[in-house]
Amino acid sequence: MINQRASTINVNQMRDMLSTSGLNIGVEVEELTKFARMYQTYESAQHEIATKLENLDAEFQMNYNHNPIHHLEGRMKDPQSLFGKLQRKNLPMTVDIIPDNIFDIAGIRVITNYIDDIYTVERLLVAQDDVTLLKRKDYVENPKPSGYRSLHLVVEIPVFRSTGVERVPVEIQIRTIGMDMWASLEHKLRYKTDAERADEFADNLIGYANELNQIEQNFQNIHREL
Ligand code: GTP
Ligand code: MG
Repeated sequence: MINQRASTINVNQMRDMLSTSGLNIGVEVEELTKFARMYQTYESAQHEIATKLENLDAEFQMNYNHNPIHHLEGRMKDPQSLFGKLQRKNLPMTVDIIPDNIFDIAGIRVITNYIDDIYTVERLLVAQDDVTLLKRKDYVENPKPSGYRSLHLVVEIPVFRSTGVERVPVEIQIRTIGMDMWASLEHKLRYKTDAERADEFADNLIGYANELNQIEQNFQNIHREL
């Protein structure tokens, strides 16, 4: 059910990627090995959360004959953009700095059927004893000026490894089908559009975001009545 957009990487691949990336980072082999271990832990955390979400969805279906989740997407931030982010934030290139500063290494996008489902998924997930909510930004309640809507959470969960337990953050974006459609298209358009025409499109895109939201409210109302 989960669409994975990137898969595990090993230390050798990572070293090759970084050496061809043009990023001039003096990362030692030892540090890189440590990084690969950490990266894999984050990937496990992503799988744990995906399983939790699938189980919640299945239980909800059994209880209420409704699936809140349309589908899940998982993505791991690739090491190159992770190291790029450390550079941008003027942080040292060390593995130890990562857990307290970068929260989106492991990411899950939850696409829900209806607007209410966004908050159902959040409530059920955060209620679990081993899930700790670290950050929350509600761009559904307060859309971004661009028109972007989504509920962003960072949660922390324990991952059990051969060496013991580690607490790992996972970034979760929860949005409806309509919000996801808007965000995907807007994202693609943004790369294709030159600066001059961008402003012209921006107004339209805000309008489309509102229209999609209106349509989804209408669908929600029908669904509530059933
Ligand atoms: P960084 O994660 O460090 O960039 O900062 P942040 O955590 O403050 O970011 P924010 O809460 O704005 O969420 C960032 C993510 O949300 C991006 O990686 C996108 O996936 C998504 N996002 C935020 N704003 C927009 C937008 O206007 N359009 C689209 N398509 N996606 C957006
Ligand atoms: Mg982010």
